[in-house]
Amino acid sequence: MLEKNPVIFIILAFVVIMVGTAITMIAPFKWINGAGDRIAEVKPYTPLQQEGRDIYMREGCNNCHSQTVRTLAADVERYGNGGGYSKSGEFVYDRPHLWGSRRTGPDLARIGLKYPDPNGAWHRKHMADPRSVVPASNMPSYAFLNAPLSTTYSERKMKLLKFPYTQADLDELKGKTEMDAMIAYLRKLGTDIPVKKAEAATLPAPAQKNPFSDLKAVKEEAEALYKQHCASCHGEKREGNLGPALKGSAKSDSELFTLIAKGVEANGMPGFRSSLDDQKLWKLVTYIKLGKQDD
Ligand code: HEC
Ligand code: HEC
Repeated sequence: MLEKNPVIFIILAFVVIMVGTAITMIAPFKWINGAGDRIAEVKPYTPLQQEGRDIYMREGCNNCHSQTVRTLAADVERYGNGGGYSKSGEFVYDRPHLWGSRRTGPDLARIGLKYPDPNGAWHRKHMADPRSVVPASNMPSYAFLNAPLSTTYSERKMKLLKFPYTQADLDELKGKTEMDAMIAYLRKLGTDIPVKKAEAATLPAPAQKNPFSDLKAVKEEAEALYKQHCASCHGEKREGNLGPALKGSAKSDSELFTLIAKGVEANGMPGFRSSLDDQKLWKLVTYIKLGKQDD
């Protein structure tokens, strides 16, 4: 029979493998990366962001951080930060891409949505000393990036990559530190596609009652939510750090709900409207109001 003839067997096995390869690896080029995948809002990096990206590669941040939110629901919830999974059109200006596969640290594809603070205060503190905001972090400290940015090769790099920067664009780099460049880069990641922001209309009426006023029933879940989303700025015990202390807040429930949902982005408080649903927001409200007597 056929399987007893090694030559024919090898040839047939090769053909079968090649058919599989063609279907899974070559054929998709027919329908991916076409005009339909282009995203008009995706903007090229500015020179400062591009320098930050180069430092990111130089420091090997990609050895611990991937940059692609997969389509799995768990991935979207954990790393999407309200922006959903990564689309191919978002990477058109990435040369080389930094998707990666190792996740010693979290995925950073949408990190720009997580910390929208225009001054990057969280990033500055975290990069200089990760354990000052995330006590259990094993990320190295990058305080040494607070050094002047070397722009000797900037123009050459940008010409090589055919980025059409003008001299005025390049002047943006003057007097900046490597840290400024890194933070400009991190703040851009994943922010090109517009995300639906909290609209006043989608917030509950001020008179609406908190459906989770029984602290005992929600404490465990709310505490976990707090640790995951809030502790790095408001402290492990709500004692305050980059953001104010929240323990036993005197604000009303609906005031707190609105604050958490919308955020105060200009002052570094992200809005959680697009990443947490109403139920979770109310549970957080109950949790942050908890005072000494409930601990
Ligand atoms: C040894 C592995 C490692 C390296 C190298 C590393 N990180 Fe991290 N990073 C982590 C871990 C673990 C966390 C999660 C704990 C924390 O927030 O500090 C993290 C968290 C982060 C976060 C916050 C993510 C979030 O969702 O809050 C950012 C931003 C970040 N890293 C950027 C960088 C940059 C930029 C570099 C390179 C200069 C870098 N990291 C290098 C391990 C690493
Ligand atoms: C990246 C840092 C950061 C994160 C993460 C963060 N906050 Fe904040 N938060 C701030 C800052 C900064 C302020 C102060 C804003 C201002 O001064 O207008 C603030 C203000 C607040 C306030 C108003 C406090 C007051 O008394 O005025 C509340 C309530 C609050 N945050 C709740 C939360 C909750 C709940 C979470 C998690 C779901 C959270 N924050 C996550 C930084 C953060």
